[in-house]
Amino acid sequence: MPLRGAVYVNGTITPAEHAVVPVYDHGFLYGEGVYETLRTYNRVPFLYDRHARRLRASAERLRLLVPFDNEALAGWIHDTVLAAGDLDEAYIRVLLTRGVGELSYDIDATPAPSLVVIVKPLDPVPARIEQDGITISLVQVLRNHPGSVNPIIKSNNLLNNAIAMQQANQRGGEEALMCNYRGELSECSQSNFFMIRGGVLLTPPSEAGLLEGITRSFLFDVAREAGIEAREETLYPPDLETADEVFITSTTRELSPVVRIDGRIIGNGAPGPITLDLLARYRRYAWESTRSAMAAEGRS
Ligand code: PDD
Repeated sequence: MPLRGAVYVNGTITPAEHAVVPVYDHGFLYGEGVYETLRTYNRVPFLYDRHARRLRASAERLRLLVPFDNEALAGWIHDTVLAAGDLDEAYIRVLLTRGVGELSYDIDATPAPSLVVIVKPLDPVPARIEQDGITISLVQVLRNHPGSVNPIIKSNNLLNNAIAMQQANQRGGEEALMCNYRGELSECSQSNFFMIRGGVLLTPPSEAGLLEGITRSFLFDVAREAGIEAREETLYPPDLETADEVFITSTTRELSPVVRIDGRIIGNGAPGPITLDLLARYRRYAWESTRSAMAAEGRS
């Protein structure tokens, strides 16, 4: 399959297949870097400010300098989206790495970070996911210990996630749910985990060691507006037996209903009513808020 889209690398935009970074980039050598995945609605990046804030917070935890402001980054994203051609909606991945330098962990070896922006056509969430839901797998791979590579960092170092996903795929799961080192549920390989019990929305707390998803935190706002109680709660694998509904959240998957976890059927085996209501509200907000942003820019 040819690579689609356009890529910005340190000031130069090329078609995706020509985009390269040097092998001496410490992002390549050591996985030293951070990233954000965004998507557009109405061709406007959704919740941009929250993503930009999290990129900075992740970078700070690596003592990685961010030598540009949010407006400059928004401009480079915009240019890359234009270069990617006539996209319906865009998938946007921003990567900031330690940059090029000698083989050394000394941060002074790399004077300038590297910035990459990947833009490609967004593959919409398939309708079957909303209609039928997905199967996920509770895997044996543990989520990184927060005292090691803290999952709160949205890091380019994704081995923990990739290995978990491999295990889920081997078991027929479309996503991998992980426990932390204490045996509590934490999050999935590329998404956050939610369950509904007795009409209350529950998700593991940040202390469980997880990425504080933008969709996850935004969903708290959506639930509040819908009058649905939502709270963080420490959850364990046996709690899955008590779930009326389960779903996962991420920028690209929005809310994806989960109807089965390994052999366990959730609810009556179909996407639940509260999940679908929250999904509809989430989408409505995403489309409406970006439409007003587009109008403010003078586009229609
Ligand atoms: N993944 N947890 C992990 C480990 C993730 O990688 C992601 C996002 C999330 C959800 O975060 P958000 O709601 O901010 O997208 C939770 C993105 C989509 C990715 O890896 O491309």
